[in-house]
Amino acid sequence: MKIEVNNNTIIFNNSNKKTEIHPLWLRERVSNKEYLDQKTEQRLFDPSLLENIKIKNAIIKGNILELTFNDGVQSRFHLNKLKSEFLDSNNLFNTVKVNLWDSSLKKIPKYTFKKNFFESKEMYNLLISFYKYGFVIIKNLPTKNNFIVNFANSIGTIRPTNFGEFFNVKSVPNPNDLAYTSLSLSPHTDNPYRKPVPCIQLLHCIENEVSGGFSTLVDGFKVAQYLKKTKPDFFKILTKIKVKFKFTDKKVVLENDGPLIELDENNNLKQVRFSTRLDFVPLLKKDKLELYYKARKKISDLYNSNKFKIEFKLMPGDLLMMDNHRLLHGRTSYNPNEGKRYLQGCYIDYDSSEGKLRHLKRSFDY
Ligand code: OGA
Ligand code: ZN
Repeated sequence: MKIEVNNNTIIFNNSNKKTEIHPLWLRERVSNKEYLDQKTEQRLFDPSLLENIKIKNAIIKGNILELTFNDGVQSRFHLNKLKSEFLDSNNLFNTVKVNLWDSSLKKIPKYTFKKNFFESKEMYNLLISFYKYGFVIIKNLPTKNNFIVNFANSIGTIRPTNFGEFFNVKSVPNPNDLAYTSLSLSPHTDNPYRKPVPCIQLLHCIENEVSGGFSTLVDGFKVAQYLKKTKPDFFKILTKIKVKFKFTDKKVVLENDGPLIELDENNNLKQVRFSTRLDFVPLLKKDKLELYYKARKKISDLYNSNKFKIEFKLMPGDLLMMDNHRLLHGRTSYNPNEGKRYLQGCYIDYDSSEGKLRHLKRSFDY
């Protein structure tokens, strides 16, 4: 692909498909210091006020495009930078390859925490693995002083909820959520009743002395993809019907709704929701509900089947970071009389993980 000049028009030539670049699009990108603050990379002018911008003179010298606009402004543009913008090649989602998995997943993505970890290449690789698999495990984290908060804030900022900045997952008397018991938890996504639904969940194991209490994970996107192929009518109804999720506590009633499988505007998988303790389907016509219940039973069987579920034990110091819009998680039951089991959990948003990944990409991918 090439950028060419023809009679003061700038042409982007991609495999002989030629597109003229709008002069104002280029004018918006002038980078001289009087037009662009060199530290913040923020504009010092308002391009929305400009009109009738034309190019008076254009010349390419090596890798640089030199332009003079009809308002007298002159600027230089790096061709590679223009090309990467045109091809959107710096878009994270064009560089990170997503790998959907089932229980045949060979290797759990694991990283080991050490000194100066947060700004390291390891951290960069960790975030890439996170986007690829939807989860990673970080080993060897300090288990004192709520270190999960430091970890979350090293990626971005923690998302506090009515449970606080972080929450303690252990078996307690009179729990306000079944997570705080020793019961098994079937694969679920967390907090589908929250607005917005938390994007990423962190679970940090502080103690795990019991013989049960294994962690389980399922790639919800893989299951949804499988359902689409094998039972398209089930898939379709699960993408269409909005289910209400509700959480009730002494001081708050939280509600949000959405389909069990949500697609984006291009019909790609966007988010799965599954929490059989908290879901309420609307009262629809009986035959529609008949199909919905069959489809829900099918996806529930798939989520719980050994074809899709992986199981492992978190040890003290291990932190599980997982995509709550893509993966389902759960645990096997345990006997609290055998010893202590104590995890700490919290949430962060994609805003944090994407921002950190772009930041580290500046150091490690150029
Ligand atoms: C949770 C949860 C799993 C576990 O707290 O959301 O799913 O291993 N916990 O206790
Ligand atoms: Zn959970």
